[in-house]
Amino acid sequence: MESMEGSIDYRNEFKRDVTKYESVTKSKYITLIYHLEKGVLESFFEKINSENKSVMDFACGSGRWTEYIEKKFKETVGVDVSEEMLSLAKKKCTHTRFILTDITSNDVNEQLEHETFDVITAFRFYKNAEQSLREAVTNKISMHLKKEGYFVFDLHLNSNSIMGTFAKTIRFLRLQKILKLNKLTVRTISLADIKKIFEDSDLVIVDYYGMGVLPSRSNQLILPHKILFMIESYFTKNKLLREYSYNLLIIARKK
Ligand SMILES: C[S@@+](CC[C@H](N)C(=O)[O-])C[C@H]1O[C@@H](n2cnc3c(N)ncnc32)[C@H](O)[C@@H]1O
Repeated sequence: MESMEGSIDYRNEFKRDVTKYESVTKSKYITLIYHLEKGVLESFFEKINSENKSVMDFACGSGRWTEYIEKKFKETVGVDVSEEMLSLAKKKCTHTRFILTDITSNDVNEQLEHETFDVITAFRFYKNAEQSLREAVTNKISMHLKKEGYFVFDLHLNSNSIMGTFAKTIRFLRLQKILKLNKLTVRTISLADIKKIFEDSDLVIVDYYGMGVLPSRSNQLILPHKILFMIESYFTKNKLLREYSYNLLIIARKK
């Protein structure tokens, strides 16, 4: 949705055609990235004994991750500002408590207001959010996280990846309109951008992984799926060229 200034208001982006989001995230490349992330999360959740812990899946959207997360934690809360997205999420989950609220709002839903969690997750959120929203959300995440709790999130078009470099070039040459691309398609984010936002917070990055060193997009994979997955899994597990990966999975901790 375009705001009066012509920029995109990400809070309201998912209040219309939510089935489109489902089909976008079911594309071959996003599914491949999802499984690479899942491999890392599987070991991480085991390491922290997540089955005894509480988690908030912030910006849970249609529950793409929530349905997996609720199986790994003792207590799961899904938070999103879009009723339409939450209605899809509710169909996928069996015991998650969903809260419809804008986490940055002053009158945040009273069910969430005083709650703190051992872990907070946020997938496919930071890259597309406008800078002011990224900052406001970071501030609230930290408020809802227990001391030494983990914040696990991803950045899905890393500025320093091959695909990110394409996106930056399109933006620089102002080709979005000619190529009929949405502004968000060419918006990128880097680890350095996140570090800058975290400077004013009590969150510190403790580790990160990369997914997607070779270029691909949507349903166009550069190699057959099985081969690409094998190669990319090797890069992800060994943290090879992670700073140049399409997707970054970041683990931060509250001081
Ligand atoms: C791209 S979707 C990601 C959904 C899901 N995490 C996934 O990976 O598929 C981003 C979600 O952020 C939600 N969102 C944006 N701003 C928000 C805010 N201030 N408070 C709560 N949810 C917000 C949107 O409604 C949308 O569902």
